[in-house]
Parts: sequence; structure tokens; C-alpha cells
Amino acid sequence: MDYLQIKKVKSLSGNIKISGAKNASLPLIAMTILAKNSVSIKNLPQVADIRTLLKLLSNLGAECNFHDDKVVVNTSSLAQTKATYDIVKTMRASILVLGPILTRFGHCEVSLPGGCAIGQRPVDLHLKALEQMGAIIDIKSGYIEATAPNGLKGCDIIFDKITVTGTANIIMAAALANGKTTLTNAAREPEVVQLCEVLNNSGVMIEGIGTAILTIHGTNSKLLNIEGFTVIPDRIEAGTYLCAGAITRDELTLTNVNAGHLGAVLSKLEEMGSSFSITKDTITIHPSKVIKSVKIVTQEYPAFPTDMQAQFLALATQANGTSIIEERLFENRFMHVSELQRMGADISLNGHVATINGGTKLSGTDVMATDLRASSALVLAGLVADGVTDVHRIYHLDRGYDALEKKLEAVGANVKRLKE
Ligand code: EPZ
Repeated sequence: MDYLQIKKVKSLSGNIKISGAKNASLPLIAMTILAKNSVSIKNLPQVADIRTLLKLLSNLGAECNFHDDKVVVNTSSLAQTKATYDIVKTMRASILVLGPILTRFGHCEVSLPGGCAIGQRPVDLHLKALEQMGAIIDIKSGYIEATAPNGLKGCDIIFDKITVTGTANIIMAAALANGKTTLTNAAREPEVVQLCEVLNNSGVMIEGIGTAILTIHGTNSKLLNIEGFTVIPDRIEAGTYLCAGAITRDELTLTNVNAGHLGAVLSKLEEMGSSFSITKDTITIHPSKVIKSVKIVTQEYPAFPTDMQAQFLALATQANGTSIIEERLFENRFMHVSELQRMGADISLNGHVATINGGTKLSGTDVMATDLRASSALVLAGLVADGVTDVHRIYHLDRGYDALEKKLEAVGANVKRLKE
């Protein structure tokens, strides 16, 4: 297995190009199941989760052809409707094929995605909404068996909780349904907005895009002609590198980024002392020498994202004073805390609230990645720790960060990918 070896350097400087958003790419790849044509997708990030989903689609009979900076997916020969455990267990977002396969073929079997390190991650809201649309859902030997013999019917759905992939799944199911579906308490993440925009450009009229109430006018089983598109930039990758500039106190410029997707993150970094120069597709961070402490509560978009919680917790270890970070979305998303404590951070946990007494010197040591964003928090800590930090189990990192060590090396960091 690979690990990353990080040594603090005097300073970082330069540009980092942000890749396409993993969490936009996944539903957009699943969406190709609704198409009758070949769909060209540009700016897909080169990360494990994308490769996993494309492999799943190939296993179901789709054709995925890779060209230089794009992938062309054709699902017209898709014959299988069963997403098996061996693939789903490696990436729970495989659940995103349930809505599209069911609405196109009238039946689908998807292995129940297990929980993951950060929490139970149930899919009850996905299934309840599909049942409201007329699906018959059984759970047998760990598989979701869904049938809709007469197709799915548009209806009014209210999500009990805001769910990102739940919203995406139902949008895609409703796209080919018979009639209108109103989805209330929908997720408003930019990744959901792009899915709506691409569908809306492909013949599925969607009203309320970007709001919590979506109305999707189904095509009544008519497959779509989906125009090619470019995946939006990854706002979480961008936020992670902004934290790299803030924690090292070094000026960095991000390119191919959309600052409009980072409102809450930029606002919290400003509270901690940074300022920014922003253009249409770049952000330059001007970090302060003194990092101020902060209070953060993670919530759904456009509030502060849970996917940036671990990175800000690492940053808070270097702040002056005490910071408070509350995790409201997932029940077990503080596993990076014990690893940061081993590096010398002064953090205490009380349920879903972390209290971080900043200003501690961090010392490099062997640390273990436990989930995708926790991994990046350990890398950030390694950039400012004395000595050598070895981050193990970076297969977690490789799921969602495209060439992280290369991007950091390019701005002067000492980050090496080595073999155990
Ligand atoms: C998406 O996960 C993201 N993944 C996650 O990013 C992100 O952390 C999360 O949204 C929240 O923003 C992808 O988009 C592929 P949810 P998702 O359904 O859709 C509960 C990363 O780091 N819930 O919005 O699975 C759930 O338990 C990953 O890139 C139910 O109770 O998250 C959680 O408490 C990690 N029942 C809350 O809702 C359901 O049926 C939000 O979950 C569905 C969700």
C-alpha cells in the first residue's frame, strides 16, 4: 500500500489547478443511463470513485471510452440491471444508479450500500421517495430489489431530511417518470444544480433549480438526448488547498475554480484572518500570519460544508485561542481528531462538538487516514509539523483527490508517495 511522507518546507508558492468535482461527476455519470445517445463528459477528476462508477456501468453493459480530457459514455447497450455487492461495497454512491435504472427499465437490484467510517449512511429516504412514485421495494439478502411494472409516476415528495444523493436519485427517477414530480426539502448543493441544468438542457423541464423546491416534468419513459458538458470545479478540493495556504501562511492561487460555490468556506477563512483576490475562475489566498480562532457548525449547502470540517479542524490547531467545531450531519466524523492528538494537537471531544485549543506545535509521526476528508486534514497538519509525517492508508485520499501530492509538490511542498 502507498503512504505519503510529508516534511515541512520554508514556504509554498504558485498555482494549483482544481479538478472537476467528484460529487458532481458521480450523479452525472449515473445520469447517462437516461440517454439514448453517447454522452461526452469533460473535466472528470482522475480519482478512484469515478473509475469505480464507470466500471460499474461497464459491468452493466455500457460503453465508456476515454479520450484525452473527456469520457464518452454510451448506455444504449446496457442490459444488466443488477449492481453487485463487490462494486457497491467499495463505493456507496453506487446507489445513484438505482433511480436511473429503475425509471428506464422498470426494475433494478442494487446491493444495499453498507455504512462507512463516518456513519450509518442509510438510504431510507431514497427508497421511501421511490415507493411514493409507485416502485415496489424489497430488501432481500442485502440487496434492494426495486420494480415499477407500470413505470414511475410523478408525485409530490417531501424529504424528511436534506439528502444530496437522495435528491439526485429522485431527480433522475423523475426525469423519465410519467407526469410531474415536486421535490420539497431538496438539496441545493452546486453538484445537484449542475445535474438539474444538464437534464433541463436535455428535454426534462425542471423548475426551481438551486432552490429547495424542485418541479421535474417527466418524459414518460422517453430516453433523453443529452448534450456534452464540462463538470464543475471541485469546491471541496479547492477549500482544502485554501486551508493549505492558511495553515502554512503562504499565498497560493487556485485556478479553474468557482468562488461562488465557496461562500461559507471563504467567509470562515476571512474570520480566521485570511483575505482573497478573486476573479471569474481563480482565487488567491492572502493568509494572515496570526490565525484567529473560529466557531463552526456544519450544515447543508449553502451553509458550512461537513466535507470541510476535518480540514478546518486541522487549521484550528494552529489558531490563537480556542475554536469550537460542531458536526451536525454525520455521527462519526471526528476520526481525524485522535490522529491529530498524536501529532500534539490539543483537542477535546464532547459528542458532536470538538474544542480545539490552538497554538500547539505539531510533531510529525506515523498517522492513519480513516476516511477521505480526514486524510486531507492529516496532510495539512503534516505541512506545518516538525519532523516527518507519514500518512498511511491513503487509498482513502485517492478516492477523491486528483494527484494531491503532485499539486502540492508543484507549489514547493515536500510530499512524496512511497510504498509501505
Ligand atoms: C453526499 O453524501 C456526499 N457524497 C458526501 O461527501 C457529503 O458529505 C454529504 O453528501 C453531505 O453533504 C456524494 O455526493 C457522493 P446525505 P450523501 O444523503 O448524499 C442522512 C465526500 O467527502 N440520510 O446528504 O450520502 C445521512 O445519514 C462525501 O465527498 C438519511 O438519514 O449524504 C446524513 O446524516 C462524504 N437517510 C444526512 O442525511 C437517507 O436516505 C446527509 O446525508 C439519506 C441520508
